[in-house]
Amino acid sequence: EATPEELAFQARIDRDEKIEPKEWMPEGYRKTLIRQIGQHAHSEIVGQLPEGNWITRAPTLERKAILLAKVQDEAGHGLYLYSAAETLGVSRDELLEKLHSGEMKYSSIFNYPTLTWADMGAVGWLVDGAAIMNQVPLQRTSYGPYSRAMIRICKEESFHQRQGYHIMMKMARGTPEQKEMAQDALNRFWFPSLMMFGPSDKDSVHSEKSMAWKIKINTNDELRQRFVNETVPQAEFLGLTVPDPELAWNEEKQGYDFSEPDWAEFFDVIKGNGPCNRERLATRKDAWDEGAWFRDGLTAHAEKSAKRRAA
Ligand code: ACO
Repeated sequence: EATPEELAFQARIDRDEKIEPKEWMPEGYRKTLIRQIGQHAHSEIVGQLPEGNWITRAPTLERKAILLAKVQDEAGHGLYLYSAAETLGVSRDELLEKLHSGEMKYSSIFNYPTLTWADMGAVGWLVDGAAIMNQVPLQRTSYGPYSRAMIRICKEESFHQRQGYHIMMKMARGTPEQKEMAQDALNRFWFPSLMMFGPSDKDSVHSEKSMAWKIKINTNDELRQRFVNETVPQAEFLGLTVPDPELAWNEEKQGYDFSEPDWAEFFDVIKGNGPCNRERLATRKDAWDEGAWFRDGLTAHAEKSAKRRAA
C-alpha cells in the first residue's frame, strides 16, 4: 500500500542517500525528525543548567574557564539543532513553546541535581560519554542537516567527555574525602546515565520505524550495552566501583551483564516528576520571558534595516 513516492523515498534511504530540506519526504519522516531533533536541541539548552550551577564555584580559575567554555558549547549545539529542525518547516518559537508547555520532552538526565564539584566530573564523563555513544552513529543519520550538525557536535562532546574524566582522575587520586565524593557522584549518575539511551527495545515505540528510515542507526539497548562495555574499565582505572552488584563480564557475548535501570523511575521522570523537572522548566521559561526585550529589539532593528535597504 506504499505509494510510488514512498517507495522511491525508501529506496533512496536504502542506498544511503542523504535527504535534503526541500526534497519530498513522507509526513511521518518529517514529524519524527522534528520530534527527535527538537528534543535533542531542548536537551542541549536544558543541559546547560546543571553545570551552569557550578561555574561560580569552580575550584580554580582554569576549571572555571573550561566549564564556562563547555556550557557555551552546549548552547551552540542547541542552536545548530534548532536550525536543523527549522529546515523541516517548524520555527524555533514553536519548538520552544512546546518545551515550555511540556508537550515536548528533553533528556531525562537533566532532571537530576548536581550536588558537588565531583558531579561536574561525573556529568562530563558519564553524561557526555553516553551522549557521544548515541551521537557518533547519528553522524550517519539519513537527514543531511542533522547528520552534519552531529559531526561538529561529536567533536566538541569528546572534549567534554575528556574534561569530565580529567576531573574524576583528580578527585579519585586526591584526598580520601575527594575520592569519596567521586564515588558518590558515580553512584548517583550511573543509572540515570543508562536511562539516557531510552527505554528497553521492547518498550521503544519509535525505534522500528526510525531505524527503517535510518533516522536512528542503533537500538537503545545496543548503545546502552556499548556504553557499559566502554565505561566499566574506565571506572576500574579510576579505582571506583560501579554501583551494580550484578555487573559481570560475560565471555560469551564479549560484553558486561548489568542490571536494568529502574524503569518506573525513568517513566516518572519523563512525565515531569523527576527531582528537578519543575525547577529546570521554570528556569528556561524565566530566561525566555526575560529575553523578550532583546528579541523585540533585534526584530525592530532587522525591520528598520530592511526598510532602509528597500528605500
Ligand atoms: N529522556 C527523555 N525522554 C526519552 C528518553 C530520555 N532519555 N528516552 C526516550 N525518551 C522518550 C522518547 O522521546 C519517546 O517519547 P515521545 O514519543 O513523547 O517523543 C519515548 O520516550 C519512547 O522512547 P523511544 O521510542 O525509544 O524514542 P526514540 O526512538 O526517540 O529514542 C532516543 C530515544 C534514543 C533518546 C532518541 O530520540 C535519540 O537518539 N535522540 C537524539 C539524541 C538526544 O536527544 N540526546 C539528548 C541527550 S544528550 C545531550 O544532549 C547532552
